[in-house]
Amino acid sequence: MPLRLRLTLWYGSALALVLVIFSVVLYAVMARNLRDAMDQSLEDTAMTAVRSLEERGFLPLLDEEELLSQFPELARIDKFFQIFSPSGTITIRSPNIKQHDLPLSRRALETTFNGKKLFETAKYPNEPQLRLISVPIMYRGRLLYIVQVGTSMESIEHTLEHFLIVLVVAVPVALAVSLGAGWFLAGRALRPVDAITLAAQRIAAGDLSQRLTIPPAKDEIGRLAETFNDMIGRLDASFRQIRQFTSDASHELRTPLTVMKGETELVLRKPRSVEDYRSVLESNLEEIDRMTDIVDELLFLSRADMGEVKMECKPVALETLVEDIHRQATLLGQDRQIEVVLGTVMPATVQGDELRLRELLLNLVENAVKYSNPTGKVEISLVTDGQHAILSVSDQGIGIPTEDLPKIFNRFYRSDNARTHTKKGTGLGLAICAWIVESHKGRIDVQSHVGRGSTFTVTLPLAKASA
Ligand SMILES: Nc1ncnc2c1ncn2[C@@H]1O[C@H](COP(=O)(O)OP(=O)(O)OP(=O)(O)O)[C@@H](O)[C@H]1O
Ligand SMILES: [Mg+2]
Repeated sequence: MPLRLRLTLWYGSALALVLVIFSVVLYAVMARNLRDAMDQSLEDTAMTAVRSLEERGFLPLLDEEELLSQFPELARIDKFFQIFSPSGTITIRSPNIKQHDLPLSRRALETTFNGKKLFETAKYPNEPQLRLISVPIMYRGRLLYIVQVGTSMESIEHTLEHFLIVLVVAVPVALAVSLGAGWFLAGRALRPVDAITLAAQRIAAGDLSQRLTIPPAKDEIGRLAETFNDMIGRLDASFRQIRQFTSDASHELRTPLTVMKGETELVLRKPRSVEDYRSVLESNLEEIDRMTDIVDELLFLSRADMGEVKMECKPVALETLVEDIHRQATLLGQDRQIEVVLGTVMPATVQGDELRLRELLLNLVENAVKYSNPTGKVEISLVTDGQHAILSVSDQGIGIPTEDLPKIFNRFYRSDNARTHTKKGTGLGLAICAWIVESHKGRIDVQSHVGRGSTFTVTLPLAKASA
């Protein structure tokens, strides 16, 4: 069942219940108030009659005409009265009763005999209901007369009947109008949801460039649309990345394969000397090593993605690590007269995996040496700021174009100037660095100017004991 219908039905049922309860209560209160007012007026009239009879000393009882001329309020057309003797026989009755015979009920007789008044509702054939009050007139503890005043309940019945008709008509009309309004409002409120559904269908059909138009109001729907757009944005980005990654990976693996294939075909064209075969095999071995490295690194990254790489968590003295790497890097730079120097080195201990941290630093230093120009200088330094160890590796090499900066941590990404500078490299080193830094809860930043050099800064939280 569609949400719109469900909302309207729920709302309608709740409203119907409220309206019915409201009507029943209203009707009951109204009936009761009318009855109370009628009783009050009957009692007032009866008491007037009683008082006037008392004033006159009860005796002798006049006849009707005399009584009426003296107490005109007893002759009101909407009421009639009767005066009974204690035995229940009628002594006087008002003329508007005419031929009707309204005897005193047993109950009225008994109650008045005990000196109490009684209200009754009486029904005589072919007549509207009557409301009666019977009041005793006592004299020295003895019942002298019973005054009964009555009135027809026709007016109350009429009023209530009318009221009921109004309710029976008005309640369904009100219900129908609010159901209509509810249906309309539910439709309006849900319209953006339909729009979102349609857009989601288009997007699901494969067009990730689609975005929802965000409604101007910052309400639930607006936030939903925004969240949805964010999600699509991220999906779009990661799909692009995966596509890029696949094409880069295939390309990276294809190059060594092409080289091997070319060399092998060439050497097989005619019989060769053992030396020739050996040299081709050696060159092939190099390419195979290269591919093995790529595949190993890829395997490492994908295991890291799946959270399968175990990380040690032990105190690691970074200053010793830096000095070790410095020694290694000096050898790396020797061929091209690149000087690797130590800047400030402060003692700093972090919690982590020593092998991974070594790999991180080595990758950065290797890059610095690799992307330096001959006779360039690479500087490694380690400082602390009280809470963090800050490692930096800076070089005076080719630098990284600003537009490439966000991409260098992507797998297989190598900027064009790096490609022209050296053929060596797969573009996986920094991706691994980023993962290592992230799993040590640190961060890695780059500052670079094309042609002037780059500085990579790694910030790692210090181990608690040394902090
Ligand atoms: N010190 C640097 N100076 C200039 N460019 C750099 C430097 N370090 C990294 N880059 C750029 O970032 C890219 C990615 O570096 P990364 O270390 O991931 O790959 P790589 O060095 O090309 O290959 P490898 O996987 O062998 O390390 C490099 O190709 C280069 O364009
Ligand atoms: Mg590298």
